[in-house]
Amino acid sequence: MKKLIAPSVLSADFTILGEEIRAIKEAGADWIHVDVMDGHYVPNLTLGLPIVDALRRTGAPPLDIHLQIEKPEEFSEKFIDAGGESILGITVQYETTRLLLNAVSRIKARGVAAGVAICPMTPLSVLEEILDYVDMVLVMTVEPGFPGQKFIPSMTAKVNRLREIIDGRDHKPLIQVDGGIKLDNIKLVAEAGADVIVSGSGIFGTPDYAETIARMKGLIGD
Ligand code: DX5
Ligand code: ZN
Repeated sequence: MKKLIAPSVLSADFTILGEEIRAIKEAGADWIHVDVMDGHYVPNLTLGLPIVDALRRTGAPPLDIHLQIEKPEEFSEKFIDAGGESILGITVQYETTRLLLNAVSRIKARGVAAGVAICPMTPLSVLEEILDYVDMVLVMTVEPGFPGQKFIPSMTAKVNRLREIIDGRDHKPLIQVDGGIKLDNIKLVAEAGADVIVSGSGIFGTPDYAETIARMKGLIGD
């Protein structure tokens, strides 16, 4: 499958959000990754429903919502309502809910793709039972909370192990990677088996988004 680039809007300039979205769309972004943080699960508060509604109205590429919040099962449908037809998928952090299947099922019942994310120190073994129910697995390559952190090197091998697990199963969710991915390490995670690559500061922190995304796509063999 063609590998996808999902710029994280958290690193965009929110004073000119509409222009940023137009620029990133023209630059070749496949999806827009949207990092929702609640100040409880992670020590950071970011964006919520009004911004997702605004992103829908900008005509943004498909929205890939990453919930880093407690009780995601209580909020996922509100994000689906706010984003409407722009919502491609909603991913919940494994660590935030005791009702993971419930959280995933409520998302899928709305006709939206469902993902599960795991923190860097959460082992792949916790995914065993949920893999058949999700469309995507997000391997966090930094601790959730902030853009601009350093990629944790041992995550490359983790992605590779997950690739082997998924290749050996009938149902094959996409593998997404998120955190600290830039031009200098994108090839590594792509070769390890990632299908969807999130990059925030690695794209929005560069002067020419189109050039950066084109170089990234070149490096991941697209
Ligand atoms: C971290 C977020 C990431 C992050 C990506 O909690 O999930 O999506 O904002 O930003 P960079 O690419 O700058 O690490
Ligand atoms: Zn994210």
